[in-house]
Amino acid sequence: MPKIVSNAALAARASAVIPGGHLSPSRRLGHPYVFVRASGAHLYDADGNAHVDFHCGFGANVLGHCHPAVAARIREVGDRIDLVGAGMMDLEVEAAEALVAAIPCAEQVAFCSSGSEATYHALRLARAATGRTKIIKFQGGYHGWHDYVAMNVQSAAGAIGDYDPISAGILADAARHTIVLRYNDAEAVEACLKARGHEVAAIIIEPIAHNVGSVIADRAFLEALRRMTREHGVVLIFDEVITGFRHALGGYQSLVGVTPDLATFGKAAASGYPLGLVAGRRDLLERVGRGGDGAVFMGGTFNGTPASLAALLATLDELRKPDTYRRLFELGDYLRRQLDGIFQRTGVEAQAAGFGSVWLPYFFKGDYRCYEDLLANDDRLDLAFRQAMVARRYISQPLPLKRLYLSLSHTRALVDEALDDMETILRDLARAPKAKPALV
Ligand SMILES: Cc1ncc(COP(=O)(O)O)c(C=O)c1O
Repeated sequence: MPKIVSNAALAARASAVIPGGHLSPSRRLGHPYVFVRASGAHLYDADGNAHVDFHCGFGANVLGHCHPAVAARIREVGDRIDLVGAGMMDLEVEAAEALVAAIPCAEQVAFCSSGSEATYHALRLARAATGRTKIIKFQGGYHGWHDYVAMNVQSAAGAIGDYDPISAGILADAARHTIVLRYNDAEAVEACLKARGHEVAAIIIEPIAHNVGSVIADRAFLEALRRMTREHGVVLIFDEVITGFRHALGGYQSLVGVTPDLATFGKAAASGYPLGLVAGRRDLLERVGRGGDGAVFMGGTFNGTPASLAALLATLDELRKPDTYRRLFELGDYLRRQLDGIFQRTGVEAQAAGFGSVWLPYFFKGDYRCYEDLLANDDRLDLAFRQAMVARRYISQPLPLKRLYLSLSHTRALVDEALDDMETILRDLARAPKAKPALV
């Protein structure tokens, strides 16, 4: 008997053995697509359908799926070495040198396996160095799943200004050391530091708040954070898990010209392979490299695993090629311009947002500088648009405010085809009665 492999059969098996049939609710598409192959800008499901990938592995796949240079480097390294976990490996030295050369704040780097680990370690380091306990994050920022920061991302209007955890089971005692302030609001930070600066170990910020789409921190705001954190002896951490390498080889810090004390990277760093890292000041990072008083434990069996370092080195080689970022930014700008044209033609109250290869529609008109401004978004329409896109096999998270991505494998022709479909979807939505789409 041939084994039946189809979307429906695999999805049924998944729901029996995996909670909810998905690794997390944020992976749920509302269709039983089960992917069996990925190449460039496309995903292929078990029924043999091709999908255009605007999700890009939560942004990790900046080069496109199964990029030949990444695959070849991993094969080559895999034949030579796998996890050692003792002493050093040549790959670690090569990767760290390349990162120190590329990232403005990086005097040293330390590897881990994910973005959440990187932010966890950066915050622990800041607490150890300052001897203080509090941290400041901003409403709308996501810095991973751990208890220090897993709160106040896409909060409901009534929950803003309050402790708003994203999960049950979070230790409230850990969370109460986190102060949540408004993004782009230097006065709020100043007031907080004046009152409690002596308690604050770190400010952690996404320099572009991509976890609620694309809200860009004003340069003046980042400069103010830099000045105030110096004055109050607070460690400034840029969480570049999304912005790092996707927008520039030196991270967003290299574009905006503000250098933090520490920066965390992940996702696109190794184009599809698990890798996180903390980069920053030598006097801070040296604590993870020594024993004794004030030493910081940054353990992890898989830290610096060769397959991920090989992927990182191959990704850096590709991203270093001339024109890489020009291509990503030109395609992103083109998509946003065309999408705005579609909004005008269809009369849908919306605007294209994003930066470089990160893009999304916001379903409201007007300025936005912080999460609170995004409460104007028409979530009903946003959801309906995204669900219709997924039904037409354009993959992204069907959830309001979530970012979409382009990779170096997406072409203008592919984007044009997608834009035609977006126009059809938006025309239909503009005509449709205002029924409430169900959350998938
Ligand atoms: C800005 C930011 N920081 C940290 C993380 C956590 O990274 P990971 O999912 O690799 O743990 C994410 C993940 O989306 C992120 O967007």
